[in-house]
Amino acid sequence: SPIRRCATLSDTFRTETSELADIEWDNLGFGFLPTDYMYLMKCAQGGSFSNGELQRFGNIELSPSSGVLNYGQGLFEGMKAYRKQDGNILLFRPEENALRMRLGAERMCMPSPTVEQFVEAVKATVLANKRWVPPPGKGSLYIRPLLMGSGAVLGLAPAPEYTFLIYVSPVGNYFKEGIAPINLIVEHELHRATPGGTGGVKTIGNYAAVLKAQSAAKAKGYSDVLYLDCVHKKYLEEVSSCNIFVVKGDVISTPSIKGTILPGITRKSIIDVARSQGFQVEERFVDVDELLEADEVFCTGTAVVVSPVGSITYLDKRVSYGEGGFGAVSQKLYSMLTRLQMGLIEDKMDWTVE
Ligand code: COI
Repeated sequence: SPIRRCATLSDTFRTETSELADIEWDNLGFGFLPTDYMYLMKCAQGGSFSNGELQRFGNIELSPSSGVLNYGQGLFEGMKAYRKQDGNILLFRPEENALRMRLGAERMCMPSPTVEQFVEAVKATVLANKRWVPPPGKGSLYIRPLLMGSGAVLGLAPAPEYTFLIYVSPVGNYFKEGIAPINLIVEHELHRATPGGTGGVKTIGNYAAVLKAQSAAKAKGYSDVLYLDCVHKKYLEEVSSCNIFVVKGDVISTPSIKGTILPGITRKSIIDVARSQGFQVEERFVDVDELLEADEVFCTGTAVVVSPVGSITYLDKRVSYGEGGFGAVSQKLYSMLTRLQMGLIEDKMDWTVE
């Protein structure tokens, strides 16, 4: 099995220890740090994935004519592994990522690994790189599964060959603000997704498409961009890399999943956690004007976890929330989710995998 194989590899393989020794575990940001191994598995168009294996981490070869380079036929996932106090490692709902990749693959005309293949490959990759999982409380090992059309095409068509690849990197907080509130600007000209488009799947092009607005926002000192729907231009969609929630009293609202919004696994988990804590959670159209009345706003995502929003600017109007930290609701949900992910509280939902 790949797990047995990688356990042997990780026990016997040593790179320059200075690389690992150089890591400042207290100052991990969200930058890429190469680790020891990556996982690769291939499949011909019309076939199925097989013979996946761990390889030393390194550059890969791609035809200049590959589907992913020419036509963006590619998907990615984001997951995290946390080290528990007892040294064991926890994954969070890995089957959900596997299922989401399968749905995305269907939209992008790609074959995809089975849920079992995906989860086993993730476990193998994490175990092979286990020395890179940060100590408890210092961050997590970010896991990046990729699925791409690696075969050569020239005319527009699905690629004749596909590669599933997983690499990992130790990470800390996503935003440079750390866990301090972020400042968002609502984008009113550019849109992230369109009805019938690919906004609801994790295709690589969705993320390239937001770079322009994100760069402009950052140049003006904002942390990120909040997108509106492209039809009415007034309903909240999501932030470049995460979902959004608006709190008013005991009601928490978030845009419903309707094809233009990424069905976040953290989003889904936070909805369940919030409901279990007695909050009313509404998945619906959320008008941009509701931001003016909100008590709290926060974002969710694998990378951002639960990030409080300190202010939102929309057409020269700036509305601020809280007093420089988490609001009461986002604090409670952040704490419950992260304690679950780190194995600090009982996992009654059966979401973690050791
Ligand atoms: C994640 O949250 O894992 C994502 O995939 C978003 C990415 C832009 C960092």
